[in-house]
Amino acid sequence: MSSTHSGNAIITGGARGIGLETVRLLARQGLRVGCLDIDEKAAEEVAAQLRHEGLDVEPIAVDVTDRERVQQAFDAFLAGQPLSALVNNAVFVRFQPFSELTEDSLDKTFDVGLKGAIWCIQAALPALRQAAASFSDAAIINVSSGAAFQGSIGFSAYSSLKAGLTGLTRQLAVELGRDGIRSNSVAPGPIPTESALADPGKPSDWTSGALKRTPLGRMGTSAEVAEVIMFLATKSSSWVNGQVIAVDGGKSITSHDLR
Ligand SMILES: NC(=O)c1ccc[n+]([C@@H]2O[C@H](COP(=O)([O-])OP(=O)(O)OC[C@H]3O[C@@H](n4cnc5c(N)ncnc54)[C@H](O)[C@@H]3O)[C@@H](O)[C@H]2O)c1
Repeated sequence: MSSTHSGNAIITGGARGIGLETVRLLARQGLRVGCLDIDEKAAEEVAAQLRHEGLDVEPIAVDVTDRERVQQAFDAFLAGQPLSALVNNAVFVRFQPFSELTEDSLDKTFDVGLKGAIWCIQAALPALRQAAASFSDAAIINVSSGAAFQGSIGFSAYSSLKAGLTGLTRQLAVELGRDGIRSNSVAPGPIPTESALADPGKPSDWTSGALKRTPLGRMGTSAEVAEVIMFLATKSSSWVNGQVIAVDGGKSITSHDLR
C-alpha cells in the first residue's frame, strides 16, 4: 500500500497535544490538512509552522459547538472537494466528584466532545461520501479514552462522554458503512500533554498510577496515538470498521499494580 494518500483531512482540536501530532502525521502522508481549533491564534501558528516545513496545512478557527459556523467552516475549507478523513479530537474536560457535578460543566463536556463531533460529522458527510466514491474509502475517527471503559474517581462526566462517543462510533460504522465510510475510535491511556499535566482536577496519582499499571512501564506520547489515528484514517485500515483500539501500552488489560 502506498504511503502517500490523497485528498483532505480535518482534525478538530488540532492546535496542540494529540491533535497537533495527528495534523503533522497526516500532512506528512500527503494529505491537505485542516487544523480546526477554537484557539484561532494557536491553529494559525501550527499551520504556519507546518507550512514552513513544506506541509499542506490550513487553520480552521471555529468552535465545534457552533453548528452553523462548523458547516460554514467545512464548506469554506473543502470548497466542493472530497474529505478523506475526519478526526474528532476536541475536548472539554473538568474532573469533579460525581456529587459536585454542575449542569454547566456537564453541558460543556457533552457540547464539545459529543454534540461537537456530531455537528462536524454532519457537516462533513457529503464530502466524506464524495471521498468514498472517488478513492473507495473515507474515515471518521473519534478520539475516545480508556476512561470510557475503566473507572476513576472524578471522571463521571468525562467517562460518560467517551462512552457516548464509543457508541456513536459503532452506530455510524453501521449506518454510514453502506456509503463506504468507516467509523473507528482510538482509546488512549494517559498521555502527558501540556493540558493533561496542567489540569488541576485530575487525580494526584495520575502519572504514578499509570506507570504502576502500564506493562510497558512508561507513559505514551501524542505521536504514538497519532500513528494509530493515521492508520485508521488511511486505506491501510480499509477493512477495519466500528472498532475501538486501545493505545495505552497495555494499561487497559492489567488487573493490578505491576510495580
Ligand atoms: N491526554 C490524555 O491523557 C488523553 C487520554 C485519553 C484520551 N485523550 C483524548 O485525546 C484528545 C486530545 O487530548 P489532548 O490531551 O491532546 O487535549 P488538549 O487539551 O491538549 O487539546 C485539545 C484541543 O481541543 C481544542 N478545543 C477545545 N474546545 C474546543 C471547541 N469547542 N472547538 C474546537 N476546538 C476545541 C483546544 O483548544 C485544544 O487545542 C481528547 O479527546 C482527549 O479526551 C487524552
